[in-house]
Amino acid sequence: MDRRERLIARARQGFRLAYGVEPTRFFAAPGRVNLIGEHVDYNDGYVLPCAIDREAIVALGPPDRDAPVPRFEAVALDMGDMASARDSFDLVGKILPGENNWQNHVRGVVQALGRYGHRVKPARIAIAGDVPIGAGLSSSAAFGVAVALACSEHSGLSLSPEILAKVAQIAENDFVGCACGIMDQMASAASVADHALLLDCRNLQTLPIPIHPSLAVTVIDTGLRRDLTESAFNQRRAECEAVAKHFGVAALRDLDAGTLMAAEADLDPVLFRRARHVVGEMERIEPVAVALAKGDAATLAEVLHEAHVSLSEDFDVSLPAIDRLAALVREALGDRGGVRLTGAGFGGCLVAVAQADARGAIDEAIARYNETSGGLPASAETFKPIRGAAPIVF
Ligand code: GLA
Repeated sequence: MDRRERLIARARQGFRLAYGVEPTRFFAAPGRVNLIGEHVDYNDGYVLPCAIDREAIVALGPPDRDAPVPRFEAVALDMGDMASARDSFDLVGKILPGENNWQNHVRGVVQALGRYGHRVKPARIAIAGDVPIGAGLSSSAAFGVAVALACSEHSGLSLSPEILAKVAQIAENDFVGCACGIMDQMASAASVADHALLLDCRNLQTLPIPIHPSLAVTVIDTGLRRDLTESAFNQRRAECEAVAKHFGVAALRDLDAGTLMAAEADLDPVLFRRARHVVGEMERIEPVAVALAKGDAATLAEVLHEAHVSLSEDFDVSLPAIDRLAALVREALGDRGGVRLTGAGFGGCLVAVAQADARGAIDEAIARYNETSGGLPASAETFKPIRGAAPIVF
């Protein structure tokens, strides 16, 4: 059995154990890693993530025939034992938030579909995933998009990837309480195999960028987690919005570097640095997209390093230990590829985009880091960029 078959088997078995019948359909949505364009999505700019070969799978079957009112039932197989990881709610009337985050992803998706005028048909689902949780690889987006796809297909809606992504984002914003942008959900919903996804976060237009066959995308989990990630994330977003307001623009996307630099003296120094990261990061998208397609490892080395320094010094979402690990990997790679912090930050993962045969150098740098770090060991995994959310056809 390969990775996906094992996941499907787990979802099928969980469904059977929870409801005593067989599921009838399966749906999958992947996690993602962002290559460049960090903390840019909620500023309406361009980002360049790619889906990874780790997914959330939803097994779906018909509702309990004896239920007195139309109901939706869910069991999240990675969220505790069978008794605590279950949820059930009426589909008539207002859907209220549940007790925990995963329930709110499900309830939020059903509620958000309602906002688009779509009525979800009663069903029972079981969700199993292998996107590492809390590592910055968007296990939540995979979960939300997989549920949105399952609800949409089961209810005969056939919604576009853009709407599925929006629905999962609304659930996360309004039900879970994280002011995330649209990047993770769009990467999960709309990615193309062997490509990264250039996404305009203002109008959701996408352009798949081929990843040159000489390159590999390796994610290095630092093992480090910072507390209060959600509140720190929401704070960063508020800081960016404050700068946009200061300049009277809709979003930082509309601010050019010259205008920002000329106004340094008028701005709070922290707000200035936040904006300098976003404006600088937007200028890095195009060179990285071109280098990715051409296999230009030396440019990747240079631009990803700039991006890391900017995230660490101006956006303040790194940690000293992560900076140390990034420096070791950078030194080991030389001009064979680049490395930087990826995702929201505050701990989490580094991404290396480097020549495939440089993986040994990355591993050596990690081994050197682990000898002296004293904390949880860092580890690396090379992922295959896969396609976005889709029903599973056997
Ligand atoms: C998290 C959010 C995304 C994005 C990134 C930072 O992953 O969910 O919307 O803002 O952080 O680029």
